[in-house]
Amino acid sequence: MSYATVFRDETRLDINYTPPKLQHRNSQLRLLNEYFRHAIETPGKMTQRVIITGSVGTGKTVLTQRFGRDITREAEQRHINLHYIHVNCRQNKGSFFLILQQMVAHFHPGFPRRGYSAEELLQTLMQILDDQNIYLIATLDELASLIQNEGSEPMYKLSRIEETRTKKSRRLSLICVLREPSWLSKLDASTRSTLQNNIIQLDSYTKDQLEDILNDRIKLAFKEGTVPFETVMLAAELGDEEAGNARYSIELLWRAGKYADAEGDKEVAPEHIRKAAGSVYSSIRKDEISTLDYHKKLFLLGIARRFQQTRSAHITTGEAEESYRIACEEFNAKPRGHTQLWKYMKELAVLGVIKAEPSPSNRVGKTTLIGLPRIAAVDLEKELNNTLKHTKRGHV
Ligand SMILES: Nc1ncnc2c1ncn2[C@@H]1O[C@H](COP(=O)(O)OP(=O)(O)OP(=O)(O)O)[C@@H](O)[C@H]1O
Ligand SMILES: [Mg+2]
Repeated sequence: MSYATVFRDETRLDINYTPPKLQHRNSQLRLLNEYFRHAIETPGKMTQRVIITGSVGTGKTVLTQRFGRDITREAEQRHINLHYIHVNCRQNKGSFFLILQQMVAHFHPGFPRRGYSAEELLQTLMQILDDQNIYLIATLDELASLIQNEGSEPMYKLSRIEETRTKKSRRLSLICVLREPSWLSKLDASTRSTLQNNIIQLDSYTKDQLEDILNDRIKLAFKEGTVPFETVMLAAELGDEEAGNARYSIELLWRAGKYADAEGDKEVAPEHIRKAAGSVYSSIRKDEISTLDYHKKLFLLGIARRFQQTRSAHITTGEAEESYRIACEEFNAKPRGHTQLWKYMKELAVLGVIKAEPSPSNRVGKTTLIGLPRIAAVDLEKELNNTLKHTKRGHV
C-alpha cells in the first residue's frame, strides 16, 4: 500500500515561502512601488525611506519580499544594477554590526567576520555600492529588535550616511518594518522626521480576506478536493480571532493536514483544525524561541517548568528565578544575576511569550507576576528542550 497524503507540496505552507500572488495587498504593493518609482526611472538621484507597520501575521514580511523580487526584476530589464536585501534584525540579535555584516556578505560572502566596527562596515558597504555602481534597497525587518538593543544610533547613522556623501550618487534606500509604530518614538527627533513621511499601515485581515488567502494557498499545497469549504472557514475564523493573523491560519491548515495524514483520512476535516488549534501556540513562533539567547532560553525553560507545577495563573519572579537556577545547574551554566533576569523578563514580555504585571498591592512585598497566556507550558518546555539541545553554549 502506498503512503497516502492530502498534501501536494507542503513546503508551500512553510513560513519562509513567498507566494506568487498576494491577496488583498494590491494597493499597499502599488504604493510601495510608487515610493520607489524613482529607483528605476532616475536611479542615483534620490533615496527613499518607507516604514511598514501592522500587527502579527498581517503580511509585512511577505509584502516587502514580493516587492523586492518585483522591483529587482524590473530593474534588470532596464539594465539597472539594483539589489534588494532583506535583513531580519531579530535573527541578527538586534546587533547593528551583524545586520551590516549580512548586507556586506550579500556582495562579498567571504568578507572577514572580525576586525571591523559597525561604522567601518557601513563605509565598506557604501564603497562596494560606489565601486560596482549598485543601488540598494534594504529592508530592516523586525526593526524593534535593533532599536531595543542599540537605541537610535544605528538608524541615525543609516539615515545620515547619504548626506555625508555629497556629490556622489544616492545609493542606499531603506524599508523599515515594525509591528508597533510606537517604537519610532525611541528614535531621536531628526532621525524620526526623516523616516516618518512614508508610512504604509497594514490592517489586520478580516475573516473573508483570510479565506481568500487560504484558498490560494490550498491550491498550491493540497491535493484537489482534500480541503472542504467548512475546514477553510474554520481556519479563517480562528485566524480572525487571533487579530487577523494569516500565519496562524496557515499553520493551522498545515498541522490539520498532518493530523489527517496520521489518521489516514482523505480529507482535512474541521475536527483536524480543532485539534491543530489545541497544539499550535498562537502568535509565538518557533523561530522566535529558537533565536533567543542561551540564558533567555534557560530562564524561559525555568518558567515553563514552574508553570507545570502549579495550578495558579501566575508565578512570581522569585519562583521563576529559582527554577532558572535549577535549569542552569542541569545545563552546567553559570546563572546570570537578578538585574539581567529582570531584563530578560521585560524582553520576553515585549515578544509576547510571557506577560509581566505588577502584583496586586495586597500581597506582601511588591513583586512582578509572570503569566503564560498563549502557550501550554508543556509545549513551551518541549520546544525549548529541542532548541537547547541544538544550541551550542556561547559565553557562559
Ligand atoms: N496577502 C497575503 N497573501 C498571501 N499570503 C499572505 C498574505 N499575507 C500574509 N500571508 C502569509 O501569511 C504568513 C504571515 O505573513 P508575514 O510573515 O508576512 O506576516 P508579518 O506581518 O511579517 O508577521 P510578523 O509581525 O509576525 O513578522 C506568511 O506565510 C505569508 O506568506
Ligand atoms: Mg514578519
